[in-house]
Amino acid sequence: MTKTDATTHPEDTSAPALEVHGVRKTFEAEIAPVRALRGVDLTISRGTFVALMGPSGCGKSTLLNLIAGLEEADEGTIQVAGESMTGGTEDDHALIRRRHIGIVFQFFNLLEGMTVLENVALPAIIAGRSRKAAETRARDLLDLLGIADKASVMPGVLSGGQRQRLAISRALANEPTLLLADEPTGALDSAGGSEVIELLNRLHAAGQTIILVTHDADVAAAADTVLAMRDGRIVADSDAAMGPVGPATTIGSL
Ligand SMILES: Nc1ncnc2c1ncn2[C@@H]1O[C@H](COP(=O)(O)OP(=O)(O)O)[C@@H](O)[C@H]1O
Ligand SMILES: [Mg+2]
Repeated sequence: MTKTDATTHPEDTSAPALEVHGVRKTFEAEIAPVRALRGVDLTISRGTFVALMGPSGCGKSTLLNLIAGLEEADEGTIQVAGESMTGGTEDDHALIRRRHIGIVFQFFNLLEGMTVLENVALPAIIAGRSRKAAETRARDLLDLLGIADKASVMPGVLSGGQRQRLAISRALANEPTLLLADEPTGALDSAGGSEVIELLNRLHAAGQTIILVTHDADVAAAADTVLAMRDGRIVADSDAAMGPVGPATTIGSL
């Protein structure tokens, strides 16, 4: 089975959503280099909802940024839907990111000068879809969120929970293989956080592959699997069926 996206690129849907092997990343810093990732191996099959937990500074955001091709690994390989996010040029990575990755952050990164509908439609227009097709998909997404009536307002009038759900739906505009969410509830009150988790649950039920970084165990409980990270490594997971965690962690049935 193949899916054809806006750039008519056939997708190898037999490849896992994500394969990470031997990834290391060190940042140069004034006092001493920071070894942010010290050998990460991780395979995530399609349709899985994974939560990644760990103390501040353990490398969670660095891992997401590398998966998204926003930063380059020093060592190791990353494949998203079978396409390599390591070793190519920045342009190669941008193309794979547009095809396969949706990303949301703690602070919503909405474009305040555009309407809600335009915010959601923009990534698909950038990826080369017609405005009409992009807006039709954007309306469907707003429907799914239950904020179709807010299509023509500016994001500033929305609640925190609505804003973050809007950011998530914008991240889904190109039907990404992988949705990456870096502490998406971190800036929300508990009602807003619940709205976001409820949306992630619905997306997961519809088959979306999700990696969610969170500090909050209640939030992480929504996921199929919880991975614990310490000092630049994945150290444990909650999926008892997988047995003790070895050097490679495989999530979901491949
Ligand atoms: N661009 C950077 N330059 C220097 N150090 C960085 C940079 N990005 C992250 N770090 C360092 O790498 C480590 C991991 O950071 P990060 O991945 O943001 O952790 P987390 O998201 O788990 O809190 C931290 O010690 C952080 O200070
Ligand atoms: Mg972080």
